[in-house]
Amino acid sequence: MKARRTIAALAAMLTCITMAAQSNTLVIEAGSKGIPIQKTMFGLFFEDLNFAADGGLYAEKIKNRSFEFDNPLAGWDVIGNVCVMADGPFANNPHYVRLGYPGHPSMITGICNEGFFGIGVEAGSEYRVSMWARNAGDRPQEQISIQLCQPSTMGDDQTFCQGVITVDSPQWKKYELVLKSPLTVAKAEFRAMLVREHKAHTPGQAVDLEHISLFPVETFNGDENGMRKDIAEAIQELHPGVFRFPGGCIVEGTNLETRYQWKNSVGPVENRPINKTRWSYTFPHRMFPDYYQSYGMGFYEYFRFAEEIGAEPLPVVSCGIACQFENEPHWHSDASLEDLQPFVDDALDLIEFANGPVDSKWGRVRAEMGHPEPFGMKYIGIGNEQWGEGYPQRLALFVKAIRAKYPEIAIIGSSGPYKDGADFEYLWKEMRALDVDLVDEHYYADEKFFTENAARYDSYPRTGPKVFAGEYACHGTDGRKWNHFNASLLEAAFMTGLERNADVVHMASYAPLLAHVEGWQWRPDMIWFDNLQTMRSCSYYVQQMYAANCGTHSLPVLMDGEIVAGQTGPGSDKLNGPDSAGFGEGLYASAVRDEARRQYIVKVVNLASEAQEITLQFKGLSRKETLDAPVTCTVLHSDDPYAENTIDVPDTVVPVVSTLDASLWHKNTLTTTIGPRSFAVYSVDY
Ligand code: AHR
Repeated sequence: MKARRTIAALAAMLTCITMAAQSNTLVIEAGSKGIPIQKTMFGLFFEDLNFAADGGLYAEKIKNRSFEFDNPLAGWDVIGNVCVMADGPFANNPHYVRLGYPGHPSMITGICNEGFFGIGVEAGSEYRVSMWARNAGDRPQEQISIQLCQPSTMGDDQTFCQGVITVDSPQWKKYELVLKSPLTVAKAEFRAMLVREHKAHTPGQAVDLEHISLFPVETFNGDENGMRKDIAEAIQELHPGVFRFPGGCIVEGTNLETRYQWKNSVGPVENRPINKTRWSYTFPHRMFPDYYQSYGMGFYEYFRFAEEIGAEPLPVVSCGIACQFENEPHWHSDASLEDLQPFVDDALDLIEFANGPVDSKWGRVRAEMGHPEPFGMKYIGIGNEQWGEGYPQRLALFVKAIRAKYPEIAIIGSSGPYKDGADFEYLWKEMRALDVDLVDEHYYADEKFFTENAARYDSYPRTGPKVFAGEYACHGTDGRKWNHFNASLLEAAFMTGLERNADVVHMASYAPLLAHVEGWQWRPDMIWFDNLQTMRSCSYYVQQMYAANCGTHSLPVLMDGEIVAGQTGPGSDKLNGPDSAGFGEGLYASAVRDEARRQYIVKVVNLASEAQEITLQFKGLSRKETLDAPVTCTVLHSDDPYAENTIDVPDTVVPVVSTLDASLWHKNTLTTTIGPRSFAVYSVDY
């Protein structure tokens, strides 16, 4: 027994000595043709969740601007004589307010809007106030004083910026005024006050106001009805290849009535009917009764935004099944197969809206909105997280109709909300049978999933539908379900497997994209914002490091002849799961060639708590090709695995760029050290 122990100890010592002497040599098959990487590979999932649209990316600052919330005065405070009327000029939004004489010359009438968690304005910036109004009184004209105020100020005057709109017609008319803010205020209030005569009784005073808007003059790309610039720029800087919209669960609706209906989201903004969002109440522990979708940012704006940020638009439409998490089968929340045609028509009409000629019914709507050229839509998603037999049955009707009329459009089906299991397997089988082009997979999963699944796609069939990893994020366990560095590092490790399997995975998007710090329902999220600022999470930087270094061809990278998906060192066991603190082990790597930039790019993730020496060996280059340029090394690291970026301290964890000297190259091989718990991107010109 003793002898056996001695032999075992000796063997262990020898292994240690061998391990220490060995280097982690990553052999990159640089000479191989490689697997073409789709332009759509790393993209975005956008959903109006966490106040991502109204109160977020959509630059409008007035909440309930059309007085159409269930409580028509939600978001508004009134003083004096204010009535809600219901026979306004916009058929889909009939409510408006009438501001009347307050009853005494010393009294006042007006309305105040609280915005979304306040109204953020910046010193020196201009804001366009617009409203539809008519003079409903007996005097030739009335004046409305427009004010930006700081109700909480200790100063003499709450109002810090103001102007006047003169309402001079008894007919509904649009009025505009531009205000320049002298101050930066995160939580301002908007006021529209009926101007009173000094010490005069004016009982006939009455002005009607509708669709009251406060919009920054400067929007992303200068677009009218556009996006908040800082948030849109943060999104653009992700270099997204695809932009999926408008969700998520809101595509499905709690019931079919509340599903997202794209036709309601196009045409003049004043006449787009609002929709209650399920995210106001789905999580009662984070409830927001005032959360509605104005559809101000609708499908036209989504397509335009995708075009502006250089991403392929990927709209998703309802398949005729409302959210299955929210509905028992007997609640009849599905459209029957016999009643499905309007849903199928919605999908067909959407393609016409995006791509049709200007003399087609829906192409004309697009042209009239300002975009006569087609948007060049190539993909459509049908349904979100559906499961069970009802889904493929319905999807079949969509597939038949779309293939017949628009064979060039790629159809994306769903594998349901689960990352594996019987429902998942069943749907994949059905998706293959229906021959859809891509299958949307979702995984909000724990740390273990992300280390164990770096090799997920290596064993997927190489034929049939491709994968759209449409929603994923590492949700830390044991109270770690928020954006922090370790979660993003595990995502980076997992993503090596997406890149390595670019023949199977054609699209991937972290989810969700946006969250207001005061209005979130779901976290972690990629980009956070308040009324003035934007914060990029650690996961944002991981996504950016991948997308900005996407390359055109994925190349094999092997260590000891095997894919690099969790080895702690040559010959050791792979795929060590994370420990109870959520930390993993080992190296993960992928590599690409970028034929446009003429670069080789290697991504390496070291999950271990010790630094590791790594050797990058580029094999298969022709004799004429020698790698001898400096290597740009971009590293995301934090000494504190639980470190996070916050709105107040947004740059705790950011990528750091350095250059490795060209003299480190020796016969197309370079040895360097990757720090503990680090994600590094090495790029070299060829
Ligand atoms: O991203 C949040 C939600 O997660 C999406 O709406 C849904 O698709 C998934 O369940």
